Amino acid sequence: MARKKIALIGSGQIGGVLAQLAASKQLGDVIMFDIVEDLPQGKTLDIAEASRISGFDAKVTGTNDYKDIAGADIVIITAGIPRKPGMSRDDLLMTNAKIMKSVAEGIKANAPNSTAIIISNPLDAMVTLFQKVSGFQTNRVMGQAGMLDSSRFSSFISWELDVSVKDVNTMVLGGHGDTMVPLVRYANVSGVPVMELLERKYNDKEKAKKVMDAMVERTKKAGGEVVKLLKTGSAFYSPAASAIAMAQSIIYDEKRVIATCSYLNGEYGVNGFYLGVPAVLGENGVERVIELSLDENEKAALDNSIEAGKNLIEAMENLGF
Ligand code: APR
Repeated sequence: MARKKIALIGSGQIGGVLAQLAASKQLGDVIMFDIVEDLPQGKTLDIAEASRISGFDAKVTGTNDYKDIAGADIVIITAGIPRKPGMSRDDLLMTNAKIMKSVAEGIKANAPNSTAIIISNPLDAMVTLFQKVSGFQTNRVMGQAGMLDSSRFSSFISWELDVSVKDVNTMVLGGHGDTMVPLVRYANVSGVPVMELLERKYNDKEKAKKVMDAMVERTKKAGGEVVKLLKTGSAFYSPAASAIAMAQSIIYDEKRVIATCSYLNGEYGVNGFYLGVPAVLGENGVERVIELSLDENEKAALDNSIEAGKNLIEAMENLGF
């Protein structure tokens, strides 16, 4: 069986970690693209020269020519500028929409049969724009956000309860911004509701609720917390790890259930719109969306997130995209 081909569009901070992870996990040959001359070539040469040590045979190469991504099975897009302290993801809209349009045209022309995973922010708008410009089937275009948001939520829970993060399961719905909806009711440790464990730990319902509320707030603002510390850019290890897990589920047809920015056809009462929801990722990309039953508060929070997403798309359209 021929090796899969993974094209990475954008060779910055996230792109570098993506290349290293894709190679070391032997997901396929990696071709890294950027508009900056020599940057993808330099990064991939560095990574490839560690192949003897890391033990991979996959080819890892760099290019400034879209033609070299021909035949790619998966493209992962990080092209665009990241946030600086004080910026929201939405502040990146104008600059990154221009970049995303050119990226979508390059991929459409050179890798028309690929499946696209987008990481560039503002995520929900960039996914929408990529699909519009590329004309790719909606199940072949998705965004990485919820996987990272739920991984962050899981980490905070595991630290709080002092249990293995491998046993913590969480789901975060909605857009990749301050309106995201971490689902407290569905958070569990090997099937045991997290709230039950918190109430047992503190023997005080009020205190347990406060602790959970703080973890939910931290999850919503987790990206900003990293930006504030890094000062020159945004998170890159964790977004890369998340997108690689999504790519792996598609390449190996694992059918993992992953919070994914997916196109909705009536699910959650939403039609013709991208939103972060649990989705089954397999060889056909987003194979299906899983609908969770939501209580009134959860539904209201999701509606608020949908509204924010709609406003962002409208703002993008008003800018001419
Ligand atoms: N085509 C291809 N690559 C481009 C283009 C373009 N038109 N314009 C810019 N780039 C490249 C830059 O040259 C840079 O190498 O995109 C890369 C972005 O890398 P970083 O600035 O290091 O940003 P990174 O931290 O990787 O984040 C990328 O992902 O999470 C989001 O908000 C984040 O939008 C940001 C994106």
